[in-house]
Amino acid sequence: MDPIKNPYAPGAGSSPPELAGRDDVLREADIALKRVRAGKPTKSLLMVGLRGVGKTVLLDRIRDMAESEGFKTMRVEAPESRSLPAILAPQLRVVLLELSRSAKAADLAKRALRGLAGFVNALKMKYQDIEVGIDYKPEPGLADNGDLEHDLQALLEVTGEAARAGDTAVAMFIDELQYVEEDELASLITALHRAAQRQLPVILVGAGLPQLRGRMGRAKSYAERLFDFPMIGPLTDAAARQALERPALAEDASFDNAALNKIIEKTKGYPYFLQEWGKHVWNAADKSPITVRDVQTASASAIAALDASFFRVRFDGLTPAERRYLRAMAELGPGPHRSGDIASELARAVTSLGPVRNQLIAKGMIWSPNHGDTAFTVPLFDEFMNRIMPGDDWRAA
Ligand SMILES: Nc1ncnc2c1ncn2[C@@H]1O[C@H](COP(=O)(O)OP(=O)(O)OP(=O)(O)O)[C@@H](O)[C@H]1O
Ligand SMILES: [Mg+2]
Repeated sequence: MDPIKNPYAPGAGSSPPELAGRDDVLREADIALKRVRAGKPTKSLLMVGLRGVGKTVLLDRIRDMAESEGFKTMRVEAPESRSLPAILAPQLRVVLLELSRSAKAADLAKRALRGLAGFVNALKMKYQDIEVGIDYKPEPGLADNGDLEHDLQALLEVTGEAARAGDTAVAMFIDELQYVEEDELASLITALHRAAQRQLPVILVGAGLPQLRGRMGRAKSYAERLFDFPMIGPLTDAAARQALERPALAEDASFDNAALNKIIEKTKGYPYFLQEWGKHVWNAADKSPITVRDVQTASASAIAALDASFFRVRFDGLTPAERRYLRAMAELGPGPHRSGDIASELARAVTSLGPVRNQLIAKGMIWSPNHGDTAFTVPLFDEFMNRIMPGDDWRAA
């Protein structure tokens, strides 16, 4: 069918034509935002889930909701190699400048900007990647100790006071939060804790891989009480059908029942895969309704597209030893797997594989759902590993 009309949108963070099956988490977020705005005690939200389930899309959707509720928002993504103060400072500056334009918040916002100037000066030595120019002179003693835990807390506090004075609230959106170093996470948690104790209108909405939850708990044992961790998983069958059918309907097209079932079977309801299959099936079909035959024809090209992008970008960043480890996991199936079983596949001792396993966790490729268990963070990655490293050659390396 006409590729120009193709509604499906596979891609990292691409807004889907139909955001299916996420009403619960959106409702939860809406309540949290409204409560913060009203100065009520509220837990911050950290959405956790595997690759490609739609965390980034939800983060952006919730940010839109916050903006229309009158929040000042900032949105950052934690890359693997940058410090939290470096990614937060420039965004915080923008929020504070905006607040400083409101008559009611101006004085406190300017004070917060002085705090930010002191914060940046004091932390520049430790976090050399901080780059932000601030036209305000530091206020001695305000957020300028040079200790992130103390300074971030002070900074978030004056920011919250400014927001409150301006009858607004601040929402921080941080994607890929699992990449933030544990001591920096600890500082963030402390700062939010303080803001919560003072009932300041500040909230964090974060997203990350499933290991985030454990990392937060290790960083600060009380993190569990401060945050809600909605699990973002694959879509239910009903939601997956909706994700496929609604966008087609908007273009006057439809699917046979068997075609829908086939796509759900192939994708296991994972949003990224649904978009990819939707796109390829649409292009392969001659006419509506789309049939199971069209799905069969299109599956090879959908898989090829995933192999070239979604899976490939993850694979490219791996060392040979990491690839072998993942290949050994794939040999055992989708998982989770016991460390001992993976080690046996590799004919190695479990302890000698510890470093590789840790690197793979740090890179966000695997996580540990239970002690001693290892699982892929990328759905269907076992099948990909078997395709990209076929046969038994990997054993010899
Ligand atoms: N609820 C949904 N219904 C249909 N499609 C969705 C839904 N959520 C996300 N998608 C689609 O899934 C794909 C992946 O979304 P997104 O990038 O937000 O996932 P993610 O969880 O952030 O992945 P990653 O961990 O790789 O960053 C996008 O193409 C998006 O359009
Ligand atoms: Mg994402």
